[in-house]
Amino acid sequence: MIILNGKETAKIITDEIAELVKKRKKEGKKIPHLAAILVGNDGGSITYINNKLKACEACGFESTLMRFDDSVKESIILNKIQTLNEDDNVDGFIVQLPLPKHIDETKVILSIDPIKDVDGFHPMNIGKMTLNLPSFVSATPSGIIELIRRYKIDTKGKNCVIIGRSNIVGMPLSILLSQNKEFGNCTVTLTHSQTKNLKEVCKTADILIAALGQPLFVTKDMIKEGAVVIDVGITRVEDKTKVNGWRLVGDVDFSSVAELTSAITPVPGGVGPMTIASLMMNTLKAMDLKEQ
Ligand code: GUN
Repeated sequence: MIILNGKETAKIITDEIAELVKKRKKEGKKIPHLAAILVGNDGGSITYINNKLKACEACGFESTLMRFDDSVKESIILNKIQTLNEDDNVDGFIVQLPLPKHIDETKVILSIDPIKDVDGFHPMNIGKMTLNLPSFVSATPSGIIELIRRYKIDTKGKNCVIIGRSNIVGMPLSILLSQNKEFGNCTVTLTHSQTKNLKEVCKTADILIAALGQPLFVTKDMIKEGAVVIDVGITRVEDKTKVNGWRLVGDVDFSSVAELTSAITPVPGGVGPMTIASLMMNTLKAMDLKEQ
């Protein structure tokens, strides 16, 4: 069994990007600039954003964080997005989700210029991705594909079962992995809360991807021997033995499942760092697109 080390792989990608940026700087060219909008004080969102900003620094990118109070009016956010759409110095930007209930997420996503939508959430980008046209692919699915690529995992003709049909992870992954291209060509089953006999379906998987956000959901009796298991879940659970009182766990019960697999991602240090590395790759691409 091999551990698919996302932390190490993300560091390699970050170093590759930093090298490119250094070269651009030397040549007097513009360096990539990522902006982020954060609304409210959710602990998880703050951690995600901080990690994204740290990655920008490691890549040599410029970054700008715009924070708003929980009670901010939707129109203020839409105006800020318009400003960012028109700001030539900003190559790409993200609006950290979830947003407070009084702000319409769809309206927010639709107002982002698709050419700066480095999260790949705009319907224009999702549509292009579905048709296998050049587009921004959202960071978690593209991070998973990049991990598969770097570990040279054979996907052609394999049965891939995905648990969870979210717009951010499960849905786009099901499309990408079924496309006729390298690190695609899987026979994909996209499962969800209404799927019957989920255990049996999971047992058919050569590649099992857990993206439902339920800690330790995938147990050993759901795994075919030799499967590749990718764990997208990351949830804080109480742990009194830790100084901070919590630890991070995935959707997969790693301790019992790992021994049955041929390869598995850990939590933390698996998909999470790859997601951030992909956002950096998308920002670099946004800058390239602007220069064309
Ligand atoms: N919330 C959870 N994941 C993401 C992500 O990838 N991007 C943004 N903007 N918000 C998120």
